[in-house]
Amino acid sequence: MTRPRKICMAANWKMNQSIHKLESYAKDLENFSKPSLSKITEKLHVVLGVPAPFLEKAESIFRPKKISISAQNVHWEESGAFTGETSLNMLNEIGIQMTILGHSERRTLFHETNNEIRLKFEKALSKNITPILCVGEKIEERQTGKTFAVLEEQLSSCLSQEKLDGKNFLIAYEPVWAIGTGLTATRDEAHEAHKFIREYLEKKISKTVAEETRILYGGSMKQDVTRELLRSTEIDGGLIGGASLEPETFASMLNIAYELSP
Ligand code: PGA
Repeated sequence: MTRPRKICMAANWKMNQSIHKLESYAKDLENFSKPSLSKITEKLHVVLGVPAPFLEKAESIFRPKKISISAQNVHWEESGAFTGETSLNMLNEIGIQMTILGHSERRTLFHETNNEIRLKFEKALSKNITPILCVGEKIEERQTGKTFAVLEEQLSSCLSQEKLDGKNFLIAYEPVWAIGTGLTATRDEAHEAHKFIREYLEKKISKTVAEETRILYGGSMKQDVTRELLRSTEIDGGLIGGASLEPETFASMLNIAYELSP
């Protein structure tokens, strides 16, 4: 099967794991990867979204293995009285080149607004940090037929004002009702949402951006559904929470994505 874009498999560890287990996670990932982690990272873009205190150590362990380390959030200001926040310059200083933004847990539990996510997104691009912008509808929004309207609102508030041609960013479609619930979107549901997002990119930005931007699926993505979801070439990979915590499970998902990569 030819795929238009390189598959990206991104782990989102959220507030889990221990810095003392990074080395053993790396070792186990090597052990369980088939044919080998180095072959996998030639074909796939593998990302680990780790808690802030792990970033620098994770970068030193995983960069030699061609795995990208990602933050899970940033602040848009350069510096100042923002207790508890991390700036993009701080990420630059330790060589971090990616960050997750607008995750539904940030939106819901920490009340992040579309406008704040836009500020973060634009600032990340200006600092050469690649954002993974998360969008997705809640269950009541899906049930009342508002999925596309919600996606459009989330996308337009972030993507409208920046000149995005030639910029690097990913989108993660994460239906909120699927995150951490064990309920995965079906391939058709995910395919349809990804297609909507890609058409939006084409309409509002450019054909090139629409063709090149990777759109990941997130929400209870596990081993058993990986093959099925990745059969859609609209789905360019996954943002994987729970199933990425065990290196054996994450490796088995990488192995499947590898098999499906040209
Ligand atoms: P989950 O999380 O795979 O545990 O559902 C995905 C995410 O929240 O990014």
